[in-house]
Amino acid sequence: MFDFRFPADMPKPQFYAELLQAADALTAGEPDGVANMANIASLLGEALADTNWCGFYRMVDGELVLGPFCGRPACIRIPLGTGVCGTAAQSGATQLVPDVHTFPGHIACDAETRSELVAPVTRDGEVIAVIDLDSPLPARFDTEDQAGIEALATLLASRI
Ligand code: SME
Repeated sequence: MFDFRFPADMPKPQFYAELLQAADALTAGEPDGVANMANIASLLGEALADTNWCGFYRMVDGELVLGPFCGRPACIRIPLGTGVCGTAAQSGATQLVPDVHTFPGHIACDAETRSELVAPVTRDGEVIAVIDLDSPLPARFDTEDQAGIEALATLLASRI
């Protein structure tokens, strides 16, 4: 049994250090990428307060395809360069979006979403997936969240 706990008042750098340890423990030695993405999506959904969608889109034949997630059913395929996820995948750069309504081409999978953080997962110089976090609160994510999720993306590059 896994029972990770993340007190709400924990400073973000400590929170992400512990999240990374939990993600490492969940995925170490497991070669199945889908199983690892599923457990990480669940971990993110449990650990991150004020989120309504946490999960993965995978790069498949030049477009993003829905992967394991925690949240409401979502759009399945996202072309590169489209929306927040497609922009992160095409540019290889994390997208920190305090207000999705101002992001050109944002794809509204859930009308409640107000802010978003999307980090690419890169292996051998290629984007292989993105980690997508959505929140119903405006400006839910900041640069500390970005640093933490980018560190998670680095850890997962060889595990998904
Ligand atoms: N909002 C995303 C699409 C994915 S859903 O949020 C799960 C986007 O614009 O890329």
